Amino acid sequence: MRPHIILYSKSDFQAMHRAGNLAARTLDFITPHAIPGCNTGELDRLCEEYIRAHDAVPAPLNYRGFPKATCISVNHVVCHGIPNDAKVLREGDIANIDVTVILEGWHGDASRMYWIGDKVSVAAQRLTRITHESLMRGIAAVRPGNTTGDIGAAIQQHAEQGPARVVRDFCGHGIGRGFHEAPNILHYGNAGEGAELQEGMIFTIEPMINQGNAQVKVLPDGWTAVTRDRKLSAQFEHSVGVVEGGCEVFTLSPRGWHCPPYH
Ligand code: MF3
Ligand code: CO
Ligand code: CO
Repeated sequence: MRPHIILYSKSDFQAMHRAGNLAARTLDFITPHAIPGCNTGELDRLCEEYIRAHDAVPAPLNYRGFPKATCISVNHVVCHGIPNDAKVLREGDIANIDVTVILEGWHGDASRMYWIGDKVSVAAQRLTRITHESLMRGIAAVRPGNTTGDIGAAIQQHAEQGPARVVRDFCGHGIGRGFHEAPNILHYGNAGEGAELQEGMIFTIEPMINQGNAQVKVLPDGWTAVTRDRKLSAQFEHSVGVVEGGCEVFTLSPRGWHCPPYH
């Protein structure tokens, strides 16, 4: 069965701009705190305080039993890393911080990579850059009449030119009044396949790109997804809405902090 894809109204889009903007500002806010010696539990608390101070709530908290306000995924962690005071970030680490806010009943979902300190390896820098570029290629494929497969194909084509591989086990998702709605947005696939995009659809695009092969496993905590080969993984996420001729991105950084280095 094919789940129904909601077509949102112009005023719904305005609400999504507000929610998405708060998610983006949270990612801006946390940037100067993501430095060597900090721990991911503290980063999570800072994000949660910021979100609540702006009259929103963190969507992940207690979502299907998830215990924290944000997901923070370091180095070989692909996604859904659980923030933890014992997880200290070190010089040279790369980390994804994934923030989803609920503001006035609307979900804004975004994530970015952070470089910890100024000694991140060239390989990690390249993985970060290709992952952000792949997300932006996917976004460039969003317009009425295109399909979800066009998005996945654009991402995969860019990401898999070299040895890096797109993670198959997690996908983008419809979003709006609900956190995870139809359609699924695969980050790989064939142009022309999948659901046809229509004005009013709202979804995330959030490719996870591994330095090595695509294989992932989930740790016994039931959440933390890691690369099986323990090589690095990177991810960026935006929430977007389909409009005439293209799309609007709800989660752009007001500071212009789209991809590291952020200065
Ligand atoms: N924000 C993540 C996403 O992009 C979902 C996190 S669900 C959680 O869809 F439960 F792990 F928080
Ligand atoms: Co998402
Ligand atoms: Co997210």
